[in-house]
Amino acid sequence: MSAPTTHGLHHITLVARDAARTTAFYRGLLGLGLVKRTVNFDDPGSHHLYFGDDRGRPGTLLTVFERPDARKGGWGVGGVHHLALGVGTEDALLKWKRRLTDAGVQVTGPYDRGYFTSIYFPDPDGQIVEIATAGPGYLIDESPEELGRELKMPPERLLRGHRDEAAIAALTWPEPVPAVEPDMRLDGLHHISGITDDLERAVDWYPEALGLDLVKRTVNRDDGVTRHYFWAARDGEGVASHSSWTLFGWPESTYRARPGVGQVHHVAFRAESDEQQAEWRDHLLGLGVDVSPVRDRTYFRSIYFEAPDGLLLEIATDGPGFLVDEDADRLGTELRLPAWLEPRRSEIEPALSPLA
Ligand SMILES: [Fe+2]
Ligand SMILES: [Fe+2]
Repeated sequence: MSAPTTHGLHHITLVARDAARTTAFYRGLLGLGLVKRTVNFDDPGSHHLYFGDDRGRPGTLLTVFERPDARKGGWGVGGVHHLALGVGTEDALLKWKRRLTDAGVQVTGPYDRGYFTSIYFPDPDGQIVEIATAGPGYLIDESPEELGRELKMPPERLLRGHRDEAAIAALTWPEPVPAVEPDMRLDGLHHISGITDDLERAVDWYPEALGLDLVKRTVNRDDGVTRHYFWAARDGEGVASHSSWTLFGWPESTYRARPGVGQVHHVAFRAESDEQQAEWRDHLLGLGVDVSPVRDRTYFRSIYFEAPDGLLLEIATDGPGFLVDEDADRLGTELRLPAWLEPRRSEIEPALSPLA
């Protein structure tokens, strides 16, 4: 039985030290909306914040567990290396570089990645964030039928050692960018990139378990050697936005990801309905994957399981969404608690760290 077809990424969840600092970064500097302010349902003493577009649509969501006392994490096999947010044009990318640099953030790039152009910077906890342009896209070097069939080596001029790093570092927008201009608006999750010790196993597993298509086999342009494969949901001839999942292959590596602050906690893919999620759960169980029961997360319903390299994955329903307990123009303005925690509001709310 083939896997149900996903529309792509639902959300990514990070672990952060300080909710106020994280909000200043993702909302204040990057201009994402804070669409829900709630607590970790499994640990109501700490914030769970949801950032995204104006309605918190699936594919635009970045969520944050605040863990003031957790140790610092580190990337490795079974973890996520970076997340990328989308932007329209290279001009907008340069504006982001100028805005971030002026705010004291260390930015590298813009680098031509062949399928998009990207800048990279750390969030306040050290999580690597990328901003990537929408185009030119995966069809630049393969036809729709051929996507992902063979290894595509990047042109030498795009590899480290052949690039003019000084010219790239000097490139920025000529004027200060004190506000997020309309063309800079970040369009949700462009892609998420993890690290695995067995890329060939992943080639079979992601299509079989999640219904994603392998759309590109290439190598990391920063070393010219590490295999870098891309999966995505297909949208006709092309690839659906907010659906790209990529993995770097570190064969036989024992360098494991360490969960903690500055690391991704898990990655969630979309199920369009409860029925599809149930079908998916059965499908995964049929493959021998250990899947959690359905958990009610108020804004969606979720199942959890691990990828073969240990990364925690989730399948979350598109509905009911973030308007279930707040009006559109009030999203994220107040602490929202699920019904079972509401009786404890007077104890929970004052114990949370202030957001601003
Ligand atoms: Fe990337
Ligand atoms: Fe989640």
